[in-house]
Amino acid sequence: MTLGIDIGGSGIKGAPVDLDRGEFALPRLRVPTPQPSTPSACARAMGEIVEHFAGRDDGPIGITIPAPVIDGVTPSMANLDQTWAGFAAEDFLTGQLRRPVTLLNDADAAGIAEMRFGAGRDRGGLVIMTTLGTGIGTALFHNGVLIPNSELGHMEVDGHDAETRASSGYREREGLSWKKWARHLQRYYAALERLLCPDLFIVGGGVSKKHERFLPLLDLRTPIVPARLRNEAGIIGAALAARHRADGA
Ligand code: BGC
Repeated sequence: MTLGIDIGGSGIKGAPVDLDRGEFALPRLRVPTPQPSTPSACARAMGEIVEHFAGRDDGPIGITIPAPVIDGVTPSMANLDQTWAGFAAEDFLTGQLRRPVTLLNDADAAGIAEMRFGAGRDRGGLVIMTTLGTGIGTALFHNGVLIPNSELGHMEVDGHDAETRASSGYREREGLSWKKWARHLQRYYAALERLLCPDLFIVGGGVSKKHERFLPLLDLRTPIVPARLRNEAGIIGAALAARHRADGA
């Protein structure tokens, strides 16, 4: 068992993960993301999660964050407090939680889990995982190998940062119908397809539970499928990454 924690815009969720089965070993705990969502406030919230599972799981921790992570530093931050930008987040969290922390991008974590246990299993070529939430996260895999920190949710489409029109956060804020939102998704996925020629798109994020409302409205060359692990993918991928590092693999 390894603890995985997923920091999101509205909730911070964690659970010990059974890495052989790719599922939660115990029910997850969710605490609201503090406002403002500074590193210290988020660390305190994560402390509650670590405390909750203490004794049952005291090893390394994998933590996802909605930002790229380069050598433990989050160089920029779109949807959490700006004090994360340029911050040595992995060292800080290791100190605060007093456990070895592996910090990685949330979409990369979700993609790692989908490739191992979900919709990307045994898929070669170029697989693009996209997570549709407050923002848009992307993870690229070539023949199963992650190309980390892609930020294709911020690709410019029709003169806009793509996630400001095609994220599910935008759909909710604007009260868009599935059909109207799907037009934005169509522009977004068609642009990705044109530039990268992928073999498969996997669509994750909470809204992927309702995939039958919008995936059939898209007209693409590339097969596009819902994620199988849904909202659990980030936590499972984080735990996989932490274990991988602890094993020196
Ligand atoms: C961030 C990405 C993140 C995505 C999903 C984007 O705004 O820049 O790093 O993966 O949101 O949370």
